[in-house]
Amino acid sequence: MTKRTINDIDLRGKRVLARVDYNVPMARQDGAMVINDDTRIRATLPTLRTMTESGAKVVLAAHLGRPKGERVQSMSLRPVAERLSELIDQPVAFCEQCVGQTAAKATTKLEDSGLLLLENLRYHAEEEANDPGFATELAGDAEVYVNDAFGAAHRAHASTAGVADVLNDRGGQSVAGLLMERELQFLGDELESPKRPFVVILGGAKVSDKIKVIDRLLEKANTILIGGAMAYTFKLAKGLTVGKSLVERDKVDVALAALDKAAKRGVQFLIPTDNVVAMPTEIDGKFAFGDHRVNDDENIPDEVEGVDIGPKSVAAFSEAIAGARTILWNGPMGIFEDERFAGGTFAVAKAVCEVTTNGAKSIIGGGDSVKALNKAGLGDQVTFMSTGGGASLEFLEGKELPGVAALADK
Ligand code: 3PG
Repeated sequence: MTKRTINDIDLRGKRVLARVDYNVPMARQDGAMVINDDTRIRATLPTLRTMTESGAKVVLAAHLGRPKGERVQSMSLRPVAERLSELIDQPVAFCEQCVGQTAAKATTKLEDSGLLLLENLRYHAEEEANDPGFATELAGDAEVYVNDAFGAAHRAHASTAGVADVLNDRGGQSVAGLLMERELQFLGDELESPKRPFVVILGGAKVSDKIKVIDRLLEKANTILIGGAMAYTFKLAKGLTVGKSLVERDKVDVALAALDKAAKRGVQFLIPTDNVVAMPTEIDGKFAFGDHRVNDDENIPDEVEGVDIGPKSVAAFSEAIAGARTILWNGPMGIFEDERFAGGTFAVAKAVCEVTTNGAKSIIGGGDSVKALNKAGLGDQVTFMSTGGGASLEFLEGKELPGVAALADK
């Protein structure tokens, strides 16, 4: 990790503005918004504790959803302040504004070791526009800017990029939080020179979403396992039939190029040799899957859609995973939200956890694979689960994230 962190600076009594990613899933229950998954809040606790234990006065800035510059009540961060307060076991003040006089007053009131969460940054269009005036207001009188929002680091917004410039210009410090540090360590440093064999498992719907990641990992991996709907485009590229499966016909050449690169570099590249398939139907205008079964053939018949990897593929993937010393997993093997089609994803999750117990390092690249692991109750049995979605993918593609670039180097 080449970036300075909160452990590299003196925080005693300092006024800190910390960007966190509290974009958590919420649902309305009895008229109130309730947090469904507080992983992202918990993930910031080590950073927050380090800062408050040093006596820093900490103002937290975050976004929730995409309110596009409007005050959307269901996207208020107030419930997050309440949950954070329970988790960290200290009061967390909440300010209904993130800039302006009310925010400035709330910030001034903060005592040493105090925590204040500002209202949703995206209630202001200036946040996403990275407006310099908004960034200056947000910075307020902070002496230190801490970015712990890895999940939002791919956005060049006022709170992720602009505010760091403001602090740097006036001689303040912009450093990484401990979650940001761990994300960069596991998704970056650990994968730079992985212990071998290095096995990469990629799933999800689209080749186009992951092709840059595949291309980059073809330079590093010993084995790449492909599942999810993405695999059907690879089947097409190999001249196999895919029935009614989701495919990107215009990405067949891209898939072919990846297969070609894998062959040239000697990377083992596995796609499913069998699948769970189902009959897509529409009943009363509603889409549903019926008649699911294992299709024990590489080709998928015309009338059905592939919805998961089959048992032969599970066995082959599990064997490859069992021999790994480093694993990166991003994307489910099938439509795991439907338990009929979750078998492949859960089997891969189990294989990843087993090899982790045997000493391998398993790194989960965020998004749906994290959801699947948590759903299988295995979330605590892997080495690292990223809190990023889009940010993890962009980082794995090798892009420099604006929220990381803005931080001071060691
Ligand atoms: C996420 O949930 O991936 C991050 O919080 C970023 O959210 P965004 O895609 O709305 O910028």
